Amino acid sequence: MIAKAIEWLDGKLMILDQSRLPWEQIFIDLDNHHDVVLAIKEMRVRGAPAIGIVAAYGIALGALGIKTANRDDFLVQLNQVMQAFTASRPTAVNLFQAINRMKEAVRGDDVAEIKRALVNEAKQIHQGEITATMQLSQLGAEIVKDGFTVLTHCNAGPLATAGYGTALGVIKAAKEQGREVSVFATETRPLLQGARLTTWELMQAGIPVTLITDSMAGYFMNQDKIDCVIVGADRIAANGDVANKIGTYSLAVLAKESEIPFYVAAPTSTIDISLSSGAGIPIEERNPEEVSHIQGVPIAPEGVRVANPAFDVTPHHYVSAIVTEKGIVREPYSEGLTKIVS
Ligand code: MRU
Repeated sequence: MIAKAIEWLDGKLMILDQSRLPWEQIFIDLDNHHDVVLAIKEMRVRGAPAIGIVAAYGIALGALGIKTANRDDFLVQLNQVMQAFTASRPTAVNLFQAINRMKEAVRGDDVAEIKRALVNEAKQIHQGEITATMQLSQLGAEIVKDGFTVLTHCNAGPLATAGYGTALGVIKAAKEQGREVSVFATETRPLLQGARLTTWELMQAGIPVTLITDSMAGYFMNQDKIDCVIVGADRIAANGDVANKIGTYSLAVLAKESEIPFYVAAPTSTIDISLSSGAGIPIEERNPEEVSHIQGVPIAPEGVRVANPAFDVTPHHYVSAIVTEKGIVREPYSEGLTKIVS
């Protein structure tokens, strides 16, 4: 079993370095917020809920590192800490929800009291995500019928959530409820979260998994080998448009063409009701080397022009349902999503 991928150890944060998996299980100690920001940027920790949790602990670490006892000076420095996280990764809204909750947790006249409140809030954010992913998995398990083969993309398991998982949580819960289930995992270029992490987690959970390249998905759908698609999400707009790992949109279109249901599993912390549609979701553009190289080995001519958007947006009309801890939402999404987040 995987040891805890994110752990708060009174005054420092320990994370399992996801960039080294599955070859090496290396835990890194983070004792200042700069290193936490870097771990998020370098995707040593990744997955929308996990990013939010780690950012909250990172802000707590930043607060603990501020030396002044003067409340006003403290708040100026705390604001700089929070800004550093705001600029780390733009797409997953869990990060911004966590930062906002940490801002709201600033209570008390005394700096020591505020520091305690921030540590407590980070722990609550962490616990909240553990509970939410467990609940949404139990609720969503009904969509996975006995004998189903599910296709999933990227990684939406315990590593990505610091909990039970979202897409993988639903699949695991179906198995725990006694149903036969198997999975096709797309490799998920460029950073191979599917090949490296999803297969690793499913093999540990004893769920049969077949690894395919991203470009094989249509072939297997067309061969009637896939019963449904379940993915996680990084941000869901009020109308049900879903930002998730690049390649998700192509899978949704293929699924519709093949009349295969396409589900999204995500905690309510991933819903951004402030955006009326996915058009407003910022898409992270990452380092070209992630595309021109694989694990540091060049696979293209030196100097080739590269595009590397890390996410895409799937319009809501491709989405059969969104599974959250507060219920399974279907069209019209604006109504259902607004109700569950208010
Ligand atoms: O760039 P990543 O690996 O952080 O992207 C992660 C995804 O797109 C996941 O599918 C999403 O965060 C859901 S995690 C439960």
